[in-house]
Amino acid sequence: MRKIIYSLITLLFVVSCENSNSHDSEKEKFINDLISKMTLEEKAGQMNQYNGFWDATGPMPEGDYQKKRYNELMNGQVGSMLNVIGVDEIYALQKIAVEETRLGIPLIFGHDVIHGYKTIFPIPLAESSSWDLDLMEKSARVAATEASADGLNWTFAPMVDISRDARWGRVMEGAGEDPYLGSLVAKARVKGFQGTDLSEINSIVACAKHFAGYGFSEAGRDYNTTDFNHFTLHNTIMPPFKAAVDAGVRTFMNSFNTLDEIPATGHIHIQRDILKGDWDFDGFVVSDWGSIDQMIPHGFARDGNHAAELAVIAGSDMDMESSLYVSKLVGLVNSGKVDINLIDDAVKRILRVKYELGLFDDPYKYCNNERSIQELGSDQNMQVALEAAKKSIVLLKNNNQLLPLEKEGKKIALIGPLADDKNSPLGNWRSQAVYNSATSVLEGMNKYKGNRIVFEKGVELYYGKTNFHNRVKLNYNDRSDFGKAKLAAATSDVVVMVMGEEGHQSGEGRSRTNIGLPGLQFELLKEIYKINQNIILVVMSGRPLDLSWADKNIPSIVQAWQLGSKSGDAIAQVLYGDYNPSGKLTMSFPRNVGQVPIYYNFKNTGRPSTSIEQVTNSGYADVVNSPLYSFGHGLSYTNFKYSNLTIDSGELDYNSKINISVKIENTGFFTGKEVAQLYIRDIVGSIARPMKELKGFEMIELAPGESKVVSFEIDSSLLEFYTYENKWEAEDGKFHAFIGTNSDVSDYKEFHLVK
Ligand code: BGC
Repeated sequence: MRKIIYSLITLLFVVSCENSNSHDSEKEKFINDLISKMTLEEKAGQMNQYNGFWDATGPMPEGDYQKKRYNELMNGQVGSMLNVIGVDEIYALQKIAVEETRLGIPLIFGHDVIHGYKTIFPIPLAESSSWDLDLMEKSARVAATEASADGLNWTFAPMVDISRDARWGRVMEGAGEDPYLGSLVAKARVKGFQGTDLSEINSIVACAKHFAGYGFSEAGRDYNTTDFNHFTLHNTIMPPFKAAVDAGVRTFMNSFNTLDEIPATGHIHIQRDILKGDWDFDGFVVSDWGSIDQMIPHGFARDGNHAAELAVIAGSDMDMESSLYVSKLVGLVNSGKVDINLIDDAVKRILRVKYELGLFDDPYKYCNNERSIQELGSDQNMQVALEAAKKSIVLLKNNNQLLPLEKEGKKIALIGPLADDKNSPLGNWRSQAVYNSATSVLEGMNKYKGNRIVFEKGVELYYGKTNFHNRVKLNYNDRSDFGKAKLAAATSDVVVMVMGEEGHQSGEGRSRTNIGLPGLQFELLKEIYKINQNIILVVMSGRPLDLSWADKNIPSIVQAWQLGSKSGDAIAQVLYGDYNPSGKLTMSFPRNVGQVPIYYNFKNTGRPSTSIEQVTNSGYADVVNSPLYSFGHGLSYTNFKYSNLTIDSGELDYNSKINISVKIENTGFFTGKEVAQLYIRDIVGSIARPMKELKGFEMIELAPGESKVVSFEIDSSLLEFYTYENKWEAEDGKFHAFIGTNSDVSDYKEFHLVK
């Protein structure tokens, strides 16, 4: 019987391989046939991407360029468009591509669907704080469902850049500072966007960006040069990109920065050798907005011709908004500067992805107005947004059990410029969110009827309307509402203060050198504190802020990021204890801006510092080295006690596994969730190794008094890194393994990896 089942399985396997192989060869044959019919102009056209007629997300050319672009579209010289929004517009443009051009090759339509389309989820940094990979896959799935229902088939997400510097505004778009967690999040998001089959109606192509090193922009200044060694590249920056490839991501976007003094767009080694070589990636690479042209001001390309030549040789397959491939590639091939095989390879990659989407079978498959009406912002999708918002909240501090709030008989002063803000919680990169469409904290709290809520804004954070294109104009002068807020605080039992960043203060081009509470908010916070110290500070921001003063003085602090459409409901449910906070930080919060870049997986140095008093050690004279809130930190309304850390062997060889476990007990009064985190330190390596590296985690839920043993398996693959020999491997020697509630954990067990 067993034999029969085995043969059956083998047969099925062979048949399915044959099917997929024959499908693959059908695909490749189709593409090769098509390429053989294409003129050089049409090939260059496939490699050309233009912004649509909606809002641009980068600088547009000056003058009357639209007519020229329209003609190019008619001539089959456009392969893709971005930022074309809505079924009707997409349909109209697709019709031109399919019905007016000689070969009728459909366009692929891209857009930044970063944290939702119409239904807005928490910004990605916030959502990563949930450590809930299924949730992240689910929210990406919903975003893909909505975007595809509105005509789109490609998102420029996930951003998988590791970020260690809170000055950089784009930290909001990623999953924080850790390559291990970042890799898992990258996989989850790619799976969510692309689904199990790209040709399904609700799957869209994902794009791993920005390749590579963009998160290391010097001094946190956007678009700036980077400077890191190739071990950092491989051990820290690359893992989430590699994970995205392993998860089947079909496109990559390169980045604005230089690395090794070479613009990423013109970087042969990372794009050709690593991505398309070592990793065998057969999707395509799109440039970032204008990044081919920007190789000129970088001082790397002499002119447009040279820039196009360098970019295509380096493996940038599609030109986003430089208009250089469409105008220069034909000449470059004809003059022998660029080999036609490179062009064919790029076009093949682009057509392959279009084929996988099923665009050659039905180019209008995403253009269905009914589906769009049904899907966008549906109740069901909003429920996922609420779940995601609750799970993304991180309780930073809770002294005196000020939280959760009692539900009856209290007078609560709700103060702060973000307390009634229905727009900021949507964050940056909010795609099709309706202006002012998030629930505010005021609305969320007003759903609880048992207390008296007195709302006073206290101060305006900014003037005017903000959007992707303008800078937030902060209020530094007008304190006229301070008085009313103080009065409310003086006569209330508890004060909830909602402060932080306006929704467009983080994101692209939003670097800041001061990461404190912006405008007059800090001043107001201190004024209120003089009157009533029972303060719960709810911080909304797109990045870690400097909360040192608040940490010293304010009893309860809730990090509420920018949580999307259901922000206010989620915050109210957490404040009232209907959801017990379970989020954990994925980026360290510095004590002040002088500490950044700051991250938990730092190197020890030769002179590690243990106190400010030490002079000739690697520390500061004014502040300790540790962050204010560490990576992995996040409290609950209950308490978890870790005990009995046990390892089943002190010796591991390359073919075996060992187990490490810990007992976790809920010693408090609420049911709660805890993310138990496994960290490993490799004591000596062929290159200096980090003090700790996250290597596993598990979320458990415990009722009061309940306990559970959490265990992790360790094998040599978990210990691998990019070594001095330029290879991924584990090295023999001594290791420490820790399991704890955050990256500060100090209790460890030792083991040796032996041959
Ligand atoms: C950003 C990308 C984005 C692109 C298209 C660029 O400025 O860096 O992340 O996908 O614009 O909007």
